[in-house]
Amino acid sequence: MATDTLTRSPLEGDASRPNVYRNLIDGEWLESTTGQTFENLNPADTRDVIGIFQKSGKADVEAAVEAAKRAFAKWRLVPAPRRAEIVFRAAELLLEQKDVFARDMTREMGKVLAETRGDVQEAADTAYYMAGEGRRLFGPTTPSELPNKFAMAVRNPVGVCGMITPWNFPMAIPSWKLLPAIVCGNTCVIKPAEDTPLSTFNLVRVLMDAGLPKGVINIVTGFGPEAGAPIVENPNVDAVSFTGSSEVGRMVGTAAAQNFKHCSLELGGKNPMIVLDDANLDLAIEGGIWGGFGTTGQRCTATSRIIIQKGIYHKFVDRFVERAQKLRVGNGLDEKTEMGPAINREQMDRDLSYMEIGQREGAKLKCGGHRLDKGDYQYGYFVEPTVFVDVDPKMRIAQEEIFGPVVAIIPCDGLEDAMEIANDTRYGLSTSLYTKDVNKAFAAMRDLHAGITYINAPTIGAEVHLPFGGVNQTGNGHREGGVGAIDFYTQWKAVYVDYSDRLQRAQIDRAE
Ligand code: NAI
Ligand code: MG
Repeated sequence: MATDTLTRSPLEGDASRPNVYRNLIDGEWLESTTGQTFENLNPADTRDVIGIFQKSGKADVEAAVEAAKRAFAKWRLVPAPRRAEIVFRAAELLLEQKDVFARDMTREMGKVLAETRGDVQEAADTAYYMAGEGRRLFGPTTPSELPNKFAMAVRNPVGVCGMITPWNFPMAIPSWKLLPAIVCGNTCVIKPAEDTPLSTFNLVRVLMDAGLPKGVINIVTGFGPEAGAPIVENPNVDAVSFTGSSEVGRMVGTAAAQNFKHCSLELGGKNPMIVLDDANLDLAIEGGIWGGFGTTGQRCTATSRIIIQKGIYHKFVDRFVERAQKLRVGNGLDEKTEMGPAINREQMDRDLSYMEIGQREGAKLKCGGHRLDKGDYQYGYFVEPTVFVDVDPKMRIAQEEIFGPVVAIIPCDGLEDAMEIANDTRYGLSTSLYTKDVNKAFAAMRDLHAGITYINAPTIGAEVHLPFGGVNQTGNGHREGGVGAIDFYTQWKAVYVDYSDRLQRAQIDRAE
């Protein structure tokens, strides 16, 4: 790599040479101390190099954490409404550049433009919500048990927050973490997924343009073990927020516990959609297609199990499969495409392996099951939308997160049976029920064991001001979105003000 390329500003470039992006530490764009870089490739066409990014290591993380720590001393004292105004301006800038950022994201991530526009919109929505939070950050005032004494609880920032994010929502997920964190007065070090760093750059650049002071957000790019783990292990990082696989989540949680850090883990799902005999069938089919194959099935909330009552089972299956077969798979930059590629070779191989596992287990493969590699497909990681029917709920394809366009259809006798199947999972993120019976709907809202339940909509479609997260092994109990995020990025301080001018002992001095 010629050094002149490395010293160019992060967004310059020409058609013949990909842009080179550097880490953002203390407001400066810096090369990694490792001297190494990696390529960000388009999963729909790997001949397309989106950019060159720094392959960072522990020393880069340490510098970023130091910068965040220095910035925290000042940033925590900036009034929250002022901090929030920067976030509000960033929302406006994001929307002005929505199409540019969506195209960048489709190139680096593969999902279709309608979805990447939605991803940018979600970051803007989060920014608007969190900007409003700057004038709330409410805490309770409450009566004291003693006379002439005042009591309240205030929210204080936690300190330096480390964030490790995945590739499936490359701008929205960083926004869920960064924006509440900074409005609450924290400073951040983020390591975006190695497959999709550009969208995090776009988000953070917009925040800088909106007036964010240097060091408040620092970006260190690279791979998990070299650039992610040192964030979690660094004793000056006070909180860690991670979204990704259960396997890495367990390591992050264990490492964070060594220093008693706040730690939020958002992991997998095996999300069921139940369709009862009385459901609006057209609606359920449309919802199942969107929930199962949107984002190529690469959502933690993807509809990966569809549980159908026997009275409409065959009708549903026939029409669902017909729709799945017709989905237009291709490059997400083409407006006509309905489903893009898998994110990388590893994920594609994983999808293909589960397509084989399902057949070996005895599930009936109704459509899909193969890689697409003819013509233009050969340059990307495309697989067919795949539907298995007559799936036994204990099969691996009904229990394990595939994270690909593979839907397992399971027959059931009725709501009770369906909920038993739905709840028989190690995860518990999102669930859905299609019915017109209000009694059944309310029973399901109570008894589906998950963080999210949709009625007459598929398992995807979370809005940013509601709690997002799950039960069981989907996470460790925290919620992102809305006030749940504020809870994570602040710590309570109880304040007592005694204006009685005498020693008053709680629990002891009681005026009987
Ligand atoms: P991953 O969990 O390996 O990666 C997520 C993030 O963690 C990335 O930024 C990665 O660099 C980082 N990371 C990896 N190893 C690390 C370590 N030892 N210490 C600290 N950080 C580390 O997920 P991957 O490999 O991209 O996908 C594998 C599977 O994970 C998917 O097939 C899917 O099942 C699940 N997944 C779930 C997501 C969700 O939204 N809950 C998002 C992405 C993946
Ligand atoms: Mg991994």
